[in-house]
Amino acid sequence: MTEVNTAQSQSEVAAEMTEFTSMDFRRCLGEFVTGVTVITTVGPDGTLYGLTANSFSSVSLDPPLILWSLRLNATNFPIYSTAETFAVNILAEDQVDISNRFAKSGPDRFAGVSISRGGGGVPLIDGAVAQLECRREASYPGGDHVVFIGRVLRVRNSGRRPLALRSGSYMTVHSHAPLLPSDADDRNIATLKAVHAARPVVEDLAKETDHAVGLGVWGSHGPTIIWWTEASKPLPTTLRCGLVLSLLDSATGGVFAAFASPDLVAPLVDAEVEQAVKSGKAPPFASRLEFDRWRSAVRDERMASKVGIMTPGINFKAITSFSVPVFDARGEIVLALTLMGDAEEFNATDDGIPRLREAAARLSERLGFPSGHRPAR
Ligand SMILES: Cc1cc2nc3c(=O)[nH]c(=O)nc-3n(C[C@H](O)[C@H](O)[C@H](O)COP(=O)(O)O)c2cc1C
Repeated sequence: MTEVNTAQSQSEVAAEMTEFTSMDFRRCLGEFVTGVTVITTVGPDGTLYGLTANSFSSVSLDPPLILWSLRLNATNFPIYSTAETFAVNILAEDQVDISNRFAKSGPDRFAGVSISRGGGGVPLIDGAVAQLECRREASYPGGDHVVFIGRVLRVRNSGRRPLALRSGSYMTVHSHAPLLPSDADDRNIATLKAVHAARPVVEDLAKETDHAVGLGVWGSHGPTIIWWTEASKPLPTTLRCGLVLSLLDSATGGVFAAFASPDLVAPLVDAEVEQAVKSGKAPPFASRLEFDRWRSAVRDERMASKVGIMTPGINFKAITSFSVPVFDARGEIVLALTLMGDAEEFNATDDGIPRLREAAARLSERLGFPSGHRPAR
C-alpha cells in the first residue's frame, strides 16, 4: 500500500499560487458539476463513520477502481486513513438533509438515518442511488487532502435520481434537451424554444438575487406571466402564472409594448386607453406623442420599470418591477424576464438589475441573437 507523503508543505503550495486567488480557484472548481456521496466506514470498536464528499470519481474499469479525497484536518482522518474497507453512497435527489447531516461535525451523524450493512459491517445508507463497497487500495498525498483509491468489491444500484452539486448549490439533474432546430422557426416555435431555455435561468436568477422572477410571453390576450419563481420572502398571491398584464401599467407589459410588433400592440394599447377613459381614470398617456416617447425610452434603455404598484391580495403591498426583453434569432422579442420586489426595499440600484440584464443577454445569445445587434423594428 502506498504511504501518505505530505512532504510539500501547505505554505509551499500556497506560495506557488500567484496567478489567482483561492476564491478564483474555488469558483472554477464549483463550475464542475458533481454528484454528492457519503463515504461510510466502521471503526475497530464498531463505531460508524460517515462523511459527505463530492470529490468521488471513477478511476479504472478493469480493475474496478474509484477515488475520493479527504481533508488532512478532518476529525476522522485517522479512521479513514486506516480503515481497510469503506462504502461510497451516491446520494439521491431527496437526500439533501443526509448530505448536510454528514457534512457537520457532531457526535452521532447516523441518529435516525436508515442503514443496512455491507461486508465487514460497513454502513450503507438506504435510499441512495448507488452503493459501492470498496477496499482501500492506495492513498496518495494531495496538498491539504489525501487521495484514497478504492477497489470496488460490490455494487448496488437503485435506479433512483441523483443529487448534484454546482457552485456549492444542490441541483437536480434533467436530461439535456437540445433546442428545436432553427428551420422550424415560426413565432410559436421560437417562443417554445425560448421558454424551454429560460426556465432554468428564471430559477437561477431568483436564487442569485433573492427577488421574485417572472417569465412573460405574448399570449392570446397580450403579455402573460407563464412562469414564476418566488424569492425567500413571498410577494402577493395575486401575482401568478396565467396572469394577463397591462401593456401600459406593468413592467412586463412595457417591454412588449416597446419591442413587439406595433400591429400586435396598437389595438391593445387603444383598448387600455379606452377602458381607462370609460372607468373615469386618467389615461396612462395623455397623448400619442407621450406614448411614443416612453416607448423609445424603453427601447433605448432595453428595460421597463414600474415603481410601487399596489397589488391587492393577502400580502397587500407595493411592488416594484424591472423587466427586460429576450430576443430570438430574428431580433423579435420572445420573452420578458422580470425581477420584482417589495417597493420598500427594491429599487434601480439593486445588484439584481445587472444580473437580470446579463441573464436576458445570455438567453438572447443562446437563441441566436448576438449581443450588440439591434432588435427588429
Ligand atoms: C457537498 C459537500 C461535499 C464535500 N466534499 C468533501 C470532500 O470531498 N472531502 C472532504 O474532505 N470534505 C468534504 N466535505 C466536507 C466534509 O463533509 C466535512 O468537512 C466533514 O464532514 C466535517 O467533519 P469534521 O469537521 O468532523 O471533520 C464536503 C461537504 C459538503 C457539504
